[in-house]
Amino acid sequence: MLEVWRIVCVLLTLVCWQNDGSRASASHSAITAMLFAPSSHTALLPQVTLKVAVDVQGAVDDLDARDSFRFTSPESLDLVHRLRASVDAVAVGVGTVLRDDPSLTVRRVSFPGGISQPVRVVYDRHLRIPAASKLMTDSHRTMVICKVDAVGSTSLEFVGAKEAVPVDGSILESLKALQEKGVAHLMVEGGPKLARSFLDDGAVDRVILVEAPIRFRQPIPSGISVPLLKDYGFTCLVSYLCGGDKVSYWHAPGVPWVEQESPLPWP
Ligand SMILES: NC(=O)c1ccc[n+]([C@@H]2O[C@H](COP(=O)([O-])OP(=O)(O)OC[C@H]3O[C@@H](n4cnc5c(N)ncnc54)[C@H](OP(=O)(O)O)[C@@H]3O)[C@@H](O)[C@H]2O)c1
Repeated sequence: MLEVWRIVCVLLTLVCWQNDGSRASASHSAITAMLFAPSSHTALLPQVTLKVAVDVQGAVDDLDARDSFRFTSPESLDLVHRLRASVDAVAVGVGTVLRDDPSLTVRRVSFPGGISQPVRVVYDRHLRIPAASKLMTDSHRTMVICKVDAVGSTSLEFVGAKEAVPVDGSILESLKALQEKGVAHLMVEGGPKLARSFLDDGAVDRVILVEAPIRFRQPIPSGISVPLLKDYGFTCLVSYLCGGDKVSYWHAPGVPWVEQESPLPWP
């Protein structure tokens, strides 16, 4: 049954490739389709992997710091970049763009030849994303998930260069729209509001939780914790030390982690 599903996934991916014209998307999707079994929410939606990094209090950022900063180990950062390299798209909420101005590109690890960067997806209902942000000005692809009635508003001058994806409704509707654009595997990088929405809507297949041995002075709580993941039905597959951080892998009920014949931990 799994084999049949994989063949269907690859065929769908190739159709998306032809419609979308994006070689990178097809390459990522094909790899994803072959590696991953159907998602827990519905088989035809993209796989969703949530990555969250927290301090010892479960916080994602320190308001005491004027700018956001990297607080996890270099090894954990490499892990995040490997994750980015293995997915079709990386999503953040607009709150993260406003605070961090991230580029969300793969930089720390090498990329298989010919494959381009994952698409960056910003959840931004009212198009608050700054036109000067890295995601809007660099040469890589960015999609902005916004409300239908936001399109046509004055803040849309950037859409010529980047891509607005109007969606009215839930996270699941946004996933349908992303699937139609060839996204087979989405990594959600935060922040906590967006992460909670994905969890609340039952849209998360796997979680990678990075717990750093640091205590923020003015913590921004994530609300995401081991008890919460258990409440949502996630099971911890493994946890290990990664350059001093505790990294744990969680999967939703019925969602396998990786191929059984591939014993190496993903990512
Ligand atoms: N440690 C980590 O792993 C990590 C990762 C990323 C970010 N961060 C930190 O997290 C903080 C920002 O987090 P945040 O929670 O304030 O912002 P966020 O989750 O990045 O973005 C939240 C915003 O996304 C928009 N949005 C659109 N659709 C949404 C939906 N379905 N559900 C929820 N939000 C939706 C909303 O704005 P509209 O209503 O205007 O659309 C909402 O205010 C920053 O301090 C950043 O440094 C930490």
